[in-house]
Amino acid sequence: MSSIRHVAVMYGGPSAEHEVSCSSALSIIRALDPERFAPIAIGITRERGFVLTPSHVVEELRTPPTGGLAIEDRLPVTGIEVELRGTPDGRLEISELGKPQDVLAEADLVFPALHGPFGEDGVLQGVLETLGVPYAGNGVRASAVGMDKVNMKQAFIAEGIPITPHRWFDAGSWAAAPDDAAKAALVADLTFPLFVKPASMGSSIGISRIESVNELAAAVEEALTHDFRVIVEQGVTGRELECSVLGGFQPEASPVGEVTVHGGWFDYQQKYHGTEDPMIVPAVLSETVAEEVRALSLAAFSAVGCWGLARVDFLYDEEAGTVFVNELNTLPGFTAHSMYPKLWNAVGLDYPSLIGRLIDLADERAALAVRMATPAAPDA
Ligand SMILES: Nc1ncnc2c1ncn2[C@@H]1O[C@H](COP(=O)(O)OP(=O)(O)O)[C@@H](O)[C@H]1O
Ligand SMILES: [Mg+2]
Repeated sequence: MSSIRHVAVMYGGPSAEHEVSCSSALSIIRALDPERFAPIAIGITRERGFVLTPSHVVEELRTPPTGGLAIEDRLPVTGIEVELRGTPDGRLEISELGKPQDVLAEADLVFPALHGPFGEDGVLQGVLETLGVPYAGNGVRASAVGMDKVNMKQAFIAEGIPITPHRWFDAGSWAAAPDDAAKAALVADLTFPLFVKPASMGSSIGISRIESVNELAAAVEEALTHDFRVIVEQGVTGRELECSVLGGFQPEASPVGEVTVHGGWFDYQQKYHGTEDPMIVPAVLSETVAEEVRALSLAAFSAVGCWGLARVDFLYDEEAGTVFVNELNTLPGFTAHSMYPKLWNAVGLDYPSLIGRLIDLADERAALAVRMATPAAPDA
């Protein structure tokens, strides 16, 4: 008597990671178990309009071309503009914009597949909370904390999680520093090379690696074009490790993977236009270091208040034997060949099962929210 659940995959959006999101969405739709789920695709335009992808487009693309998945496979953001409404029983009604009576489709839950600001930072999650519809992945708080590198590091420090020395300041403090000496003083206690980053971004956009104080001003000005807060970190020379975390109250950590990086850091060019696959699964590490990375991943997941999934990224200085958490991603790249699912696949959790598990976790959290919102009956 199991009934098919309608899963609305949301994708696209205004961030620089629009295209990656379109790839993630198609991978997810292809992997939905047809015995349990039916897909609905809701595209989000760069102007933040919601469109309903025609079902024939979804059906056509749903069958992968022979020869397997290619990264170019993506779901286009196309269709008529729609409005979304939550029903009292927690379903999502989708109707043509301006015609709320004409319900075009209904979903039982949403699977957000967006990366970067808007989709990964709690904004979309807030919309879904307002609609009262269950959704996969992290809630508003963890998404917001995880997207902001300043707040994320504050959460790590509070829990004793090792991170690289850093300083942060906002556009106001930068503008108020009267001269080069005052500007340099904002990062005075850090040792070069430094990484200058916008607090909220992703995909290495707006990040510069600088070797001397002469390069500071240009790097800060660049970061300030993306956010009004800037974080400056001491560089770690070493290997980049990644670990996937999955679960709710009792999350689990995957084996550890590695990304191989050229030229000192993993820039946008290598992330999206690299000619070789940078992923090594699992990373070749001592069991002690792998265990430390897994334990720190769980600690980071809990420090940020995650639910569902996160990928935790590390900088490992092999010579010094020190492991630092670099960042936590609340909606990491999610195509079938992204690091997050690959690490689970390595321990036998295949991509369709992983998606099924994330949907179950969405239901689990929605049930919990209902329980917490319902006051307990007074004692008789
Ligand atoms: N403190 C650091 N030391 C060494 N490399 C760093 C440091 N911070 C960032 N990097 C390099 O820059 C890349 C992008 O930085 P990251 O903080 O992960 O930003 P994003 O959110 O854009 O992925 C990392 O993958 C790494 O290669
Ligand atoms: Mg990163």
